Amino acid sequence: MPQTPSLPGTTDRRLAALLTLLSENATIVISGARIARETGMSRSTVWRWVEELRKLGVQVKGQRSTGYFLEKVPDVLTPDLLRKRLKGNLFGKRVFHFFKIDSTNRVAMELGYAGEPEGTIVMAESQTAGRGRSGRTWHSEKSSGLYFTVLLRPRLAPAQAPLLTMLAGVSAHTAIAAQTGVVPELKWPNDLMLNGKKLGGILTEMHAEPSVVRFVIVGIGINVNQEKFPSELSAIATSIRREMGRMHYRLELLARLLTQFENDYNRFLREGAKFVVERFESVSTFGRGRRVRVDSGLDSYTGVTAGIGPEGLLLVQRDNGPLTTIIAGDVTEVR
Ligand code: BTN
Repeated sequence: MPQTPSLPGTTDRRLAALLTLLSENATIVISGARIARETGMSRSTVWRWVEELRKLGVQVKGQRSTGYFLEKVPDVLTPDLLRKRLKGNLFGKRVFHFFKIDSTNRVAMELGYAGEPEGTIVMAESQTAGRGRSGRTWHSEKSSGLYFTVLLRPRLAPAQAPLLTMLAGVSAHTAIAAQTGVVPELKWPNDLMLNGKKLGGILTEMHAEPSVVRFVIVGIGINVNQEKFPSELSAIATSIRREMGRMHYRLELLARLLTQFENDYNRFLREGAKFVVERFESVSTFGRGRRVRVDSGLDSYTGVTAGIGPEGLLLVQRDNGPLTTIIAGDVTEVR
């Protein structure tokens, strides 16, 4: 199995191995001796690592004399389990996992500069400074949502990089619908909405020369199992659990999303922008005939969406004004 190098703060490999072993044998008592043998830690330190897991909120039953077990598989995004689910895939090779980090985008950006290969993933159980669009923060409650970033090194012009944001939105949309049965609305360029509230978002950042992209990082946040949100968000945010009334196993959703994204990404590289625009229009009706308000930062106006241009930019027919191509800014539906 490919080894991912460790980075300050990443989940210790022994801890991850212990969690994987217990998860794969849930409800079965495993002796300290076997844990030591299979995870490469000394027998005398097994209990210390079990305590570490307990501190992180994983409910490990049992004791030193009898062995340890899990009553049920915890919904922790263990890198080993993800790698197994993504065997041979671009996104299954290098996986960095954190129980707590400021922002997976921040880490992925550093890994990009450090030369990590295409396909590297950074994922976290919680973020203390998750980044959202327009300088906003992304609420990242522990082990409730998916918070991850993928590193890509496509041969693209910088102007084409925003297409990756749209593409990730489409892949996330497809994966959520297939995995959970809930069909979100995809709002241009990258908001996943459910019953008018925000379910997920994507933040793409890049390092580029004037004519070529060096690397792009695509950060994806999806609200999966949150029961409630802080008061300032409760009117505008929702989760799959809140809408469906039941929990979903995040690892399965993540694996499906990454598999879908890899397929979509490869087709985009082969077929170009046209593929992204067509995929987007096949799952979203937002691009045509919606009344919207556009806030570009400099300007604010209303109009009706009039299609997605060949490079993925939204066209808006302004009220009493020209057809305008939206390059940046917030687009909100007005009813
Ligand atoms: C938005 O504002 O709609 C974009 C939100 C993107 C949030 C994700 S969570 C994982 C990744 N790491 C970050 O710091 N942000 C993105």
